[in-house]
Amino acid sequence: MQAYRVTTADGIDAIEQVVMDTPTPASDEILVKMKACSLNYRDMLITMGGYVRNDVRPIVPLSDGAGEVVSVGSEVTNFALGDRVIGNFFQAWKKGKIDDEGLNSAMGGSIDGVLAEYFILKADCSVKIPDYLSYAEAATLPCAATTAWHALVSVGELKPNDTVLLLGTGGVSIFGLQIAKALGAKTIITSSSDEKLARAKELGADFTVNYSTHPNWEEEVLKITHGKGVDNVLEVGGAGTFEKSSACVKPNGTLSLIGILTGLESPPISLMTIFNLLRIQGIYVGSTAMLEQLVSTMEAHQIHPEIDKSFPFSKAIDAYHWMAQAKHFGKIVIESEG
Ligand SMILES: NC(=O)c1ccc[n+]([C@@H]2O[C@H](COP(=O)([O-])OP(=O)(O)OC[C@H]3O[C@@H](n4cnc5c(N)ncnc54)[C@H](OP(=O)(O)O)[C@@H]3O)[C@@H](O)[C@H]2O)c1
Repeated sequence: MQAYRVTTADGIDAIEQVVMDTPTPASDEILVKMKACSLNYRDMLITMGGYVRNDVRPIVPLSDGAGEVVSVGSEVTNFALGDRVIGNFFQAWKKGKIDDEGLNSAMGGSIDGVLAEYFILKADCSVKIPDYLSYAEAATLPCAATTAWHALVSVGELKPNDTVLLLGTGGVSIFGLQIAKALGAKTIITSSSDEKLARAKELGADFTVNYSTHPNWEEEVLKITHGKGVDNVLEVGGAGTFEKSSACVKPNGTLSLIGILTGLESPPISLMTIFNLLRIQGIYVGSTAMLEQLVSTMEAHQIHPEIDKSFPFSKAIDAYHWMAQAKHFGKIVIESEG
């Protein structure tokens, strides 16, 4: 089969296109013919080396794939040939708290991912795609959407009328916006682009702040909330945004620590954490149970993921370059040509 492989830490252009043996599923696994996959910021970092965890090389990249089941292991009972399927980001995290085995099962990081004509999934860490979603749409869910669900619902225990702050208009934040709105929360979203903020409004964002024209954007967020602050912030910026994000959270609120868009340094802990009794919750994608809950909620609300642009499999490297430019809104997908 045709596949891509990350073998060095020399960046996007060093990703190789290779011919590999099509894998054979073990008794508890399924073989999936890839129809679509999606990119996450992490996939770009992995090509450069120094990613904090699950940075094995050589590896078939990308965690997020959707496809059709073409072979099933002898013990598999929950999938049949022809089923439409997505795999959980962690292939050994079914439910509850994650353990070491789970942490070492990240697709496209510690085990081979989905940027190939075929990929293997554990049957019990896979989820059927609801009919209303296309393969491309379904391929956006395993990492970014599950992360937003984990932060907002699984640990954030989001309630109607809570206020949620979302930073930027990338994959995690746009799913955060869509989930929060569907569950009745108020949303504030930031962006460097007024055009992207207008699109966020169309998706239901209640308030928008341009963080380029308002470098002290935390003051704008506090104004919007009449000085009270938000219940939960999906903190995808890291060291460069953490202190401002902390200032936006109301007493007893939650700061969901997710991302490192401003760099790999550790964020400084703000003293507001103490004096506003904040909860800082580390989020690392989610369990298969969380992905299942997300998918059924999306189906109930008929939420369609925001796909910015689709690239054919043969132009996968162009998809990485498009992500690196950060012009996208929501998700970037790669679709099979066969
Ligand atoms: N912990 C986890 O499990 C987990 C899971 C998924 C992602 N992540 C992390 O979360 C982050 C976001 O991932 P993603 O895949 O959603 O990324 P993405 O789609 O590449 O998001 C890119 C967007 O982020 C916004 N951005 C960049 N710098 C910003 C800043 N200083 N302040 C506010 N917004 C900024 C920009 O939006 P505008 O153009 O609108 O300004 C940019 O277009 C990454 O660091 C990723 O590694 C972590």
